[in-house]
Amino acid sequence: MRGLRDKVVVIAGGGSGIGAATARRLAEEDARVVIGDLSANAARSVARSIESAGGRATGLAFNVRDTASVARLMQVAMDAFGRLDALHVNAADMGAIREDPDAAEISFELFDRTIAVNLRGHLLCTQQALPHLLRSAGCAIVYTTSESAYIGEPTRVAYAMSKSGLNALMRHVASRWGRHGLRANAVAPGLTLTEEVDRSLDPELRDKSLAEVHSTRLVSPQDVAATVAFLLSDDAASINGQVISVDGGRTMRA
Ligand SMILES: NC(=O)c1ccc[n+]([C@@H]2O[C@H](COP(=O)([O-])OP(=O)(O)OC[C@H]3O[C@@H](n4cnc5c(N)ncnc54)[C@H](O)[C@@H]3O)[C@@H](O)[C@H]2O)c1
Repeated sequence: MRGLRDKVVVIAGGGSGIGAATARRLAEEDARVVIGDLSANAARSVARSIESAGGRATGLAFNVRDTASVARLMQVAMDAFGRLDALHVNAADMGAIREDPDAAEISFELFDRTIAVNLRGHLLCTQQALPHLLRSAGCAIVYTTSESAYIGEPTRVAYAMSKSGLNALMRHVASRWGRHGLRANAVAPGLTLTEEVDRSLDPELRDKSLAEVHSTRLVSPQDVAATVAFLLSDDAASINGQVISVDGGRTMRA
């Protein structure tokens, strides 16, 4: 892909799953990656594996709920590599999603917990990254949203609302700062077989999901990572304000 070599990219929530796959893919494209995650061990371990493969990476603990922590993540990129060119905001509270019921039943504790990470946290990352990003020509943000934002589901109300709000944030950023050289897009994965999902997925749900995709297999984290890398690259220079589905054709939105 064009234009990723030597770019400095922060991955907010890159310690596992889709974020870790994205960090690895960007490093393969010769970008320099800064991986922040709630789990310092996970972030450092992904960074170490990239460095042992010859890439350039730094991993550190960060909490997307905490302003000082988010500011520090961006500053670490500036201190380590001298600039910030791109941001992948990917963190989500995947524990909350398992308990997320319908609108009648949801507690405001669970709702607030979901929004704090999946939506408020993404706004916080945007705010803290913007002053750095806007100093770089051809800067970009990709948010990880979900098909849950638009398919309509009888459960997971907080998750769906958080991802819908995220699409709105992305479109706002794209329209507000597009003329300043910043592009913003979102990737919307379908059910993605991260190690954790692959290990814990109910066999019946796996079969049902496979029957629903117009593809020979379910989505891999590497499929999503490739799309994020493309959207952050100069090959996507005219793509702004879009939600790109990576779901094996399950949704086929107009
Ligand atoms: N796996 C799927 O089927 C699927 C489908 C659609 C969308 N998504 C989205 O993809 C993204 C990644 O999901 P994943 O499946 O790779 O899950 P994951 O749990 O492996 O990745 C999420 C990462 O975010 C981190 N995180 C959680 N809370 C945080 C916080 N407060 N501060 C900083 N980091 C925090 C976690 O530690 C984890 O490393 C999420 O936004 C999720 O909503 C996943």
